[in-house]
Amino acid sequence: MDKISYLRQEFQENYESVPDFIFFAPGRVNLIGEHIDYNGGLVFPCALTVGTYLAIKLREDTTIRMRSLNFNNELETPLTELNKTNEWFDYPIGVLKALEKEGIEASGMDMLYYGTIPNGSGLSSSASIEVVTAYALNAIAQKGINTVDLVKLSQKVENEFIGVNCGIMDQFAVGMGKENHAIALNCDTLEYDYVPLATDEYILLIGNTKVQRKLADSKYNERLGECREALRIAQKTFKVNHLCELSLEQLESVAADFENKMVYRRARHVVTEQERVVKAIKLLKANDLAGFGKLMNASHDSLRDDYEVTGEALDTMVAEGRKIEGVLGSRMTGAGFGGCTVTLLHKDSVQEFIDKVGKHYKEKLQTQPEFYAVGVGNGVMEIKN
Ligand code: GLA
Repeated sequence: MDKISYLRQEFQENYESVPDFIFFAPGRVNLIGEHIDYNGGLVFPCALTVGTYLAIKLREDTTIRMRSLNFNNELETPLTELNKTNEWFDYPIGVLKALEKEGIEASGMDMLYYGTIPNGSGLSSSASIEVVTAYALNAIAQKGINTVDLVKLSQKVENEFIGVNCGIMDQFAVGMGKENHAIALNCDTLEYDYVPLATDEYILLIGNTKVQRKLADSKYNERLGECREALRIAQKTFKVNHLCELSLEQLESVAADFENKMVYRRARHVVTEQERVVKAIKLLKANDLAGFGKLMNASHDSLRDDYEVTGEALDTMVAEGRKIEGVLGSRMTGAGFGGCTVTLLHKDSVQEFIDKVGKHYKEKLQTQPEFYAVGVGNGVMEIKN
């Protein structure tokens, strides 16, 4: 049974009715440009074909009912009493509250979510829930807020309601993705450009370490603080608003000003990553996949050595992956501290990769990893009959 028929059937079973609307928002994978979105950098993510479906039926009263096919709990509450739950409901609740501030009052609804992104894998299931909710409520209320503004609103929910100070990359990729294209996104200006992904012979394979991203949120906010400190030091000499405006040469020229060498290494990751992204996009446009792969490798190494957000699971998966013939590049993707890797490899090498990397990884980490050959899909949308 296809996903939509399944969702309709479950809606019928859960709510004994037929949904009025169905929406979908994808997950995302970042190809290169990690931990630089909140430093005004250029990032290069794409939307996936897996994501979050949301079916809605409007009600006559002002009750909200929320369920997900991925979790066992449910919420039923009057619209006026929506409060933080410390459960997954907080993503939609945060969006409902943020939209209310924008003058979009929801009516009573039965909502059913169905996610096809592995939970907690770092493929942006939370951004996907936020964006699908914001897009759906805006479409139903016919308010005409554009998708980029809904993306910004969703990021704000994550920052202010959830408490993770993430950048804009995830919500943007989820909202604005394009089938078979990656997005070159300038996170300072929000200018963007779609770059075709030639995926005939070479494909993207995601490796899920199945290591929950423990402490990811607190470590994430810690890195953000370190970058702010580095920026303050650089600003004593250079007139810049973001770390990504510095060249490596400029950073090196003020190295002595950094008493804390760890903070210097964080800045060095940011500055070199920005340079890698610029080169990587050029190489991809010139169809130089081997060159692109090398930069993916260099990105991972910098995240491991200078930014220190990888850890044994990600490092093992990447190191084993690079041993397989036909692999052009392999790196962690997303925030790190567990989660997923992304590998660019020849399609004939996929089975060998899954077998060998899977075996060695399991021996070392005592955990069975998962692998997905992913499709690159479109951003958030309404699914019409
Ligand atoms: C998480 C955040 C993004 C980005 C990445 C790291 O996915 O939500 O904003 O900072 O980590 O590149």
